[in-house]
Amino acid sequence: MNVLVTGCSRGVGLEICKQFLEKGHTIYGVSRTYTDEFKLLESKYPEKVFFKSIDLKDVSNIKEIIFKEFIKNISINCFVNNAAIAYDDIITNVNAYNLEETYKVNVFSPILITKYVLRNMILNKVKGNIIHISSVSAHTGYNGLAMYASTKGAIEAFSKNTAREWGRYGIRSNVVVPGFMDTDMSSDLSDEQKERIYKRTSLKKATSIESVAKTVVFIASEAALSITGEKIHVDSGTI
Ligand SMILES: NC(=O)c1ccc[n+]([C@@H]2O[C@H](COP(=O)([O-])OP(=O)(O)OC[C@H]3O[C@@H](n4cnc5c(N)ncnc54)[C@H](OP(=O)(O)O)[C@@H]3O)[C@@H](O)[C@H]2O)c1
Repeated sequence: MNVLVTGCSRGVGLEICKQFLEKGHTIYGVSRTYTDEFKLLESKYPEKVFFKSIDLKDVSNIKEIIFKEFIKNISINCFVNNAAIAYDDIITNVNAYNLEETYKVNVFSPILITKYVLRNMILNKVKGNIIHISSVSAHTGYNGLAMYASTKGAIEAFSKNTAREWGRYGIRSNVVVPGFMDTDMSSDLSDEQKERIYKRTSLKKATSIESVAKTVVFIASEAALSITGEKIHVDSGTI
């Protein structure tokens, strides 16, 4: 499979790339930074790993940079919408500029990429798959995460509707909903804040990045052929 992954440079996106590569798939990764960790994957899996730098805040560049320059003439089997930015503040402090920037990366870009991915799949007669990475914050409230959580709620609604609209072509759309993981995104949290979050989970611990990435690979696989329009929680049991 040819897999387009956003936010491939680090964290969950990098792990998703690793897990797909271990199963023999080819990765087309995008993010702003071309990191040493991603370059390591390129050297380990020559001819299977490709990278393009793009700032997903600039929605006007998506067609040109990703679909004309990067994956031109490539048939995409799977799109993983993983790149996102956090917006940590209480609602009475919300700032229109920051809100718009967050929506550009977390919602507008993924919707536009989905548009071109669907066109690519239809053109190449591929029964492909779209997988969005959401967040448990869209399902259970956390102080300071309302704006960020709202972007994830938007993506979950978009995924369900994509599944309904394009299912007749054999195209699936699903969401993986992770709990809190130890990545750069959560690095501003103090140990005490993290402990409080982990205490809310059944397993009393952080969500494993590897478990999230392996779930993404499972959803993209033949084993999940009848799963679409779904949300799969991988969150240490935040119930
Ligand atoms: N960490 C958590 O606790 C947690 C919990 C639930 C859900 N999630 C979700 O899991 C996914 C991955 O998060 P993570 O924890 O791995 O975050 P992360 O470590 O902060 O990584 C974010 C990724 O997105 C890319 N990115 C950010 N802004 C971008 C932009 N403007 N243009 C292009 N790429 C951009 C980053 O690459 P560059 O900086 O190189 O551009 C990076 O590869 C996200 O959808 C997040 O919302 C995370």
